[in-house]
Amino acid sequence: MTDALPHTAGIDRLAEPPIAEIEARVHGGRGQTLADSETLPPEAYTSQAFFEREREMIFRRGWMALGHVAQIPEVGDYFTIDLLGEPMVVVRAADRIRVLSRVCLHRWAPVVSGKGNAKMFSCPFHRWAYDLTGQLRSAPFMDQAAGFDPKACKLPEFRAEVVLGTIYVNLSGDAEPLAPRMDGLAREYSNIPLDDLVIGFSVEFPCPFNWKIAVETFMECYHHIGAHSKTLQPHSPGGDSYGVFKEDPEQGWIVARHPLRADLGHEHALTPGLPVFEDWTEEQIRIGSLYHVFPNHLVGTSANAMRWTAVLPISATESWWIRHYLVHRDALKDPGFAELMARLKTSGDVIAKEDLDVNTLQQRGAASRLARPGRLSHLELPVWQLADWVRDGIGGGRF
Ligand SMILES: [Fe+2]
Repeated sequence: MTDALPHTAGIDRLAEPPIAEIEARVHGGRGQTLADSETLPPEAYTSQAFFEREREMIFRRGWMALGHVAQIPEVGDYFTIDLLGEPMVVVRAADRIRVLSRVCLHRWAPVVSGKGNAKMFSCPFHRWAYDLTGQLRSAPFMDQAAGFDPKACKLPEFRAEVVLGTIYVNLSGDAEPLAPRMDGLAREYSNIPLDDLVIGFSVEFPCPFNWKIAVETFMECYHHIGAHSKTLQPHSPGGDSYGVFKEDPEQGWIVARHPLRADLGHEHALTPGLPVFEDWTEEQIRIGSLYHVFPNHLVGTSANAMRWTAVLPISATESWWIRHYLVHRDALKDPGFAELMARLKTSGDVIAKEDLDVNTLQQRGAASRLARPGRLSHLELPVWQLADWVRDGIGGGRF
């Protein structure tokens, strides 16, 4: 599907209009109803200048999902992540979860990489060592540096908030608190045992397309009839899916539902072999939910699993996909757990590849000089709502 199309190789890039004109086109869709809605202009998916506008107005000013608390259950547990070129380490220190810059204060090498458990982060370059709060604890051979005070040296800490198990960071440091905008999501999650979730498996991969393409495709099930015609469509028909209209402009998230095909038993909505969460009615089990916490956090829930996802924007045409498959901790007792997770990972990879292929094609098409905003189906309500949210964000909307 992602054939090389050699006859288009070397074609000159889209002659990009000035950023002011792109923004005017983006704002042109303001006030559209779902029935007359269309996509954002293709330049919003291809222009690096527009991406930089999003970076400053949306990603840096608001809250970005970095990870899930289940990644770092014990004191000393950490994972590293780069967000918008900023190397970070997310660590569970004795007092709380901290998001620290992991750039050495000496000569800037990241002091830690990968993930694990540590008491100290010791820079591989010259062995400057920092504790879990970022405080510099040792700096060899610095005794002749006049006035150098290790106690005054601390890795910068980013403002972070943990809401419903997800770790968010605010780069600008002055966003309004996130939790008050998430009350409704807390109600949505009320029958999910958030404190008992563990990671079954994790995957991450690069996406050669704009971050909005990744999140839109997660949120609409219209494409089940095309991209997933043999995998998801047979039990989760795209035509039966629906988005839930977001009435509150302050609400930081949206939800869409994808019911199980009407003639299938509710057990088809469950992953076989995993413990089912308590207090789910049969009707609830039948309806899968997809959540988008703006801008980069996606969650798919069923009655025995949570597909936790973060999309990291990299450039206008690149993003990075991180997925943690969360299950109830009781699942670990099953001797077949590892094998089950391996099977789920394999089937998840098939679905992800189906999305990756069409999204790669979409990004290519978006760069065409002939590409124009496309009309949206009622099944694409989440796409329409994201477009509105982006308009507000780049226009200086509240975070
Ligand atoms: Fe998909």
